[in-house]
Amino acid sequence: MQPFVLFPSMGEYPLYDDAVYDGLSAEDSRWRAYAEALRVAAPGRVVLDVGTGRDALWALVAARAGARHVYAIEASPAAAAAARRAVASSGFGGQVTVLEGLASDQVLPVRADVCVSEILGTIASSEGAIPILNDCRARLCTPECVWIPFRARTMIASVDVGTPALDPSCEPLMNRVLAAAGGAFGPRLCLGGPAWSALVSAPAVVESDVFDSRRPPPLSEMSVEVELVSGKATGLLLWTRVAVASSGREVDTLDGGTRAWAPVYVPVPLAGRVRAGFTRRTGDDGVHPDYTLAVDGVPVWRSPHHVLSQEKGVTGRSSN
Ligand SMILES: C[S@@+](CC[C@H](N)C(=O)[O-])C[C@H]1O[C@@H](n2cnc3c(N)ncnc32)[C@H](O)[C@@H]1O
Repeated sequence: MQPFVLFPSMGEYPLYDDAVYDGLSAEDSRWRAYAEALRVAAPGRVVLDVGTGRDALWALVAARAGARHVYAIEASPAAAAAARRAVASSGFGGQVTVLEGLASDQVLPVRADVCVSEILGTIASSEGAIPILNDCRARLCTPECVWIPFRARTMIASVDVGTPALDPSCEPLMNRVLAAAGGAFGPRLCLGGPAWSALVSAPAVVESDVFDSRRPPPLSEMSVEVELVSGKATGLLLWTRVAVASSGREVDTLDGGTRAWAPVYVPVPLAGRVRAGFTRRTGDDGVHPDYTLAVDGVPVWRSPHHVLSQEKGVTGRSSN
């Protein structure tokens, strides 16, 4: 039986539901790394939790660790209401304030000493972490702020996964992604299955975003070219590695320790030594990037966030 299936990437659209939040509440490698980083950074500090989600997860971990106060921002009205209930029933209502709306629309009475967030995507920057956290850095945080996560990287490698089919059970999700993107287009497809076993080249880094006050990641368009050497490959895989704190092991999408992220699969037959080019450009909404991949200079994948960007052509527009 084919061990791999495909399903659409959804985190870059406002499609979080109970099933996703249930997965995020699992005490896995992601959870342990965030909890440990907050146990070190939060005591006595003002903490900002960007995208606190249904369960006010990191806000409550920070409060339990002894944060002076936590401001927990959540864009989804339903998730913000649930987060308020979670905070009230936890007994930390006096220590945690839930703010509904986009982080960019918020003001705080004091600047935060610690900023925790998990708005990382299947490609590290795909949920808009760079512009969202750059805005928090400028308006809501102290210059010495501790950033959790500290760094997110996007890796690339060639893989041999046969011809995986779209998981039939993901049809409703696919329709929601198409509706959120504004019509019919080619959504990013994630690979389900033991992806680490399918790598046929060494991984290379195409994106390394350090969320640190001294060297914030630039919003401007970026392009990187890396060399991949492999035998027969059916495509390219992009995935996320997260250094939650500045020390300690990275959490890796591929190692099976967390269900929080999934690798993105781009079918393109390859063999031997190739140059893979990765380009990121901020999309139409000013938050979510459009991406392209090229092999030996030839574009093989254009992945806009919105249908609108695709209609304009992802190469013909400057956005920053
Ligand atoms: C991956 S979930 C993380 C939830 C929880 N913090 C966790 O780590 O399990 C990302 C959350 O961020 C919220 N979000 C995304 N962009 C946001 C923004 N610009 N401002 C506020 N919340 C945002 C989403 O609605 C979602 O609830």
